[in-house]
Order: sequence, then structure tokens, then C-alpha cells
Amino acid sequence: MKTIGVLTSGGDAPGMNAAIRAVVRTSIYNNVRILGIKQGYNGLIKGNIEEMNLSSVADIIHRGGTILRTARCEEFQTDEGIEKALNVIEVFNIDGLIILGGDGSFKGAKKLSEAGVPTIGVPCTIDNDMGYTDYTIGFFTAVETVVDAISKIRDTSSSHGRANIVEVMGRSCGDIALFAGLAGGAESIIVPEEAIDIDSVCRKVIKGRNRGKLHSIIALAEGVGNAYELAKEIEEKTGAETKVTILGHIQRGGTPTAFDRIIASKMGNKAVELLIEGKSGRAMGFKDNDIIDLDIDEALSQEKAFDREMYEVAKILSI
Ligand code: F6P
Repeated sequence: MKTIGVLTSGGDAPGMNAAIRAVVRTSIYNNVRILGIKQGYNGLIKGNIEEMNLSSVADIIHRGGTILRTARCEEFQTDEGIEKALNVIEVFNIDGLIILGGDGSFKGAKKLSEAGVPTIGVPCTIDNDMGYTDYTIGFFTAVETVVDAISKIRDTSSSHGRANIVEVMGRSCGDIALFAGLAGGAESIIVPEEAIDIDSVCRKVIKGRNRGKLHSIIALAEGVGNAYELAKEIEEKTGAETKVTILGHIQRGGTPTAFDRIIASKMGNKAVELLIEGKSGRAMGFKDNDIIDLDIDEALSQEKAFDREMYEVAKILSI
């Protein structure tokens, strides 16, 4: 393995920079040339590529976003797009690739490895929606951001005696809502994995009010539906003024938590070692407190399991 290419793809996630740093430094430590591919698969198709050195990744471990920039690339989903990427890989003498991203990006990694390019995927997405790994890089940073927001919204919720819906990201995965809802002490958590029971949400608002509780926080996963319609219904049924805060892209930024930096560093390091060992088509993950790697096909086929036990605990604690 003489030359490795690294790219970040899909939505950015805090901790991507820590992973890039680990990939670059481990490659250089092993006397492997390391190329940074800009703007995800777009850069691979267009040859937007630069050699990296130790200084290229100095002072980035604590930064959100990705110094390589990122993109969602439709062209790469076509046979022509793959063909163009394979040409660029040949022209730049790239012997192996490390792809940092979520499941869409992993599908691209799988195609490249099937086309004979040794490729390893490192899971980076705030959504934590990849079934084979307990946690993805970026998830806990997003959860911290949401918990911080909930605490702030709770102050104003109490001052006004309102109900406040806090809508969080996650696509069809409710993990950000679940984890942040539990940590933030939300009165209700609404996720796509569980049938929505608006009457139970309303009962919590009314019961809380009756025992003198001033605030009511409802953590809502974006995959469930329209937050404003929900607010209207809650307001009609409870008489409590109900406000909506859609946190949006604030959840994607910020300095990564120590946990995200640690798993990013370990996975980035291991991904390079796997390529040097001659492995391909592997997905890095974190399972039962350990860094793992498994076949990328198998990783993609594993369905994400919802932590029902945690959901039940959150329900009990918010009575
Ligand atoms: O996959 C990460 C994510 O932030 C999702 O939670 C969200 O639905 C989506 O990306 C937003 O994508 P974009 O930044 O392209 O609007």
C-alpha cells in the first residue's frame, strides 16, 4: 500500500476532522502517501485531490465540520460516475480509500471495493442510524448540543408556563430525540420507532400543570411529522400555549465531545492498518466498548435496533 486517499461524504458530523487526522498521521507513520479528496465523491470524480502532510491536520482535532469539505453526490450513484472515479483513482495511483460518512456513503464504498479498489468505511453521522455499530462518530456531540438547547428552552418554558416542542434531526432514526430527551429530562419523547400517542403527551402536560410544574418539554424526532401541527393539537387539547423550536443544523456543528474524538481517532487509525494489511470492503464500528470491523455488505444489511428499554426508562422518569 503506497498511496491512500481519504474523503468525507454526506452530511458532516463533528469528529470527522479527528478521524481525518488519525488517517493522515497513521499513514505517514507507516510511510504511506496520503491524499485528501475534496468535497466527497464529487472530488473523486473531478480529481479535486491534494497530498496531505502532518501539518495539514494540525489544530483540527477539536473542530467541527470537515477540512476536506463534503457533498451529497448524485453522479456517483450512476455507472458513469463510478467509471469516472475509477479513472481518477488510476491516474492518481491510489491503492486504497478511506470513506468517512453515513450509510449512503458506505454504499459508494461498497461499489468501489467491488470494482477492485481496497476501501474501508468509517461511520460518521449525527443520526446514529447504522445498525451494525452502537454509536457513529458525531452522534454524542449532537446529543450534547440538543441537551444544552433543552436546558435553555426549559428556562423560558418555566417562566411562561408553556409547552415547548423541540424538534431534532435524525431522519427516520429517533436516537437523538431519545438520548437527548432522557438526558434533558423531557416530559415526552416522540420518535418514529414508536406509535405516537398524543393523548398521553397531553396527559403529561395537564398532570404536570396540576402538580405545579411550570414547564413541559416534548422532544420530537424530525422523522415523525409536522411539529407545528402537533403543537396545534396539544394546544387545543390542553389549553397550554405550545411553542416549536426546530434545532436544525446547529446539531451538526460544534467542537466534538471527547468520546467522538476518541472513537474517531481509533477508527481512523485502524482503517489505515486494515488497508496496509491488505483488507478491503470493511466497515469500522464500535460494539460492546470495542472498535470492530466487519464486512461492509453485512454492516449495511444490519437493521438499526431501537433501544426500547431506554425509551421505557425515559417514560417512567417523566411521570
Ligand atoms: O444525516 C444527517 C442529517 O443532518 C439528518 O439528520 C438530516 O435530516 C439531514 O442530514 C439534513 O441534510 P442537509 O444538511 O443536506 O439538509
